[in-house]
Amino acid sequence: MNCLVNPHISIRNAVVDDVEAIYQLLKPFAKKDIILQRNRDNIFQHLQEFLVAEYDGILAGVVCAHIYGRDLAEVRSLVVDPAYQQHGVGRLLVEGCEQWLAGMGVTRVFALTYVTGFFIRLGYRIVSKESLPHKIWTVCVHCSRFADCDEVAVEKQLSDTISNP
Ligand SMILES: CC(C)(COP(=O)(O)OP(=O)(O)OC[C@H]1O[C@@H](n2cnc3c(N)ncnc32)[C@H](O)[C@@H]1OP(=O)(O)O)[C@@H](O)C(=O)NCCC(=O)NCCS
Repeated sequence: MNCLVNPHISIRNAVVDDVEAIYQLLKPFAKKDIILQRNRDNIFQHLQEFLVAEYDGILAGVVCAHIYGRDLAEVRSLVVDPAYQQHGVGRLLVEGCEQWLAGMGVTRVFALTYVTGFFIRLGYRIVSKESLPHKIWTVCVHCSRFADCDEVAVEKQLSDTISNP
């Protein structure tokens, strides 16, 4: 994944030099348990799962694609710097993720989210959490909201997504 998709916004795979900026982007939202808590080591260890967005060369957003199996991957750790929100960065990050996953042969993607409306705009549908396999909850046990989780599960079939090998 490395493409210029908008005159201002480009989406590319993360590199080690991005780790500090990714950490700083995620930190305030992780503190509020909007996304998973990640320290720098965790970001290094999962770096190959991250895409970043640059807005006029400035790192403005990040997303992580975690594959569970052929038929399921999760879009997680999606954050756009508040200074760059509502400019299409989030959409391009998620669509970039979908193309990346579809190019690898993954057929379905889901997210657990508080921004249901955003994902609906991108063609996702709400599903029951119970429809998702148990293995997806292994990281959630570390969240303070685990016992009383009010995130919404959304998913999208990737069969219509154009692959981008
Ligand atoms: C949610 C988030 C990633 C959206 O990023 P963004 O760059 O502002 O989104 P975009 O500008 O690409 O918006 C794409 C579309 O979704 C809509 N949208 C954006 N945020 C929305 C929201 N919170 N609720 C409903 N719709 C939303 C936009 O209006 C736009 O609609 P359009 O296609 O009609 O123009 C960003 O607000 C963010 O980082 N939030 C804090 C962290 C978070 O909640 N992450 C999600 C974890 S699953």
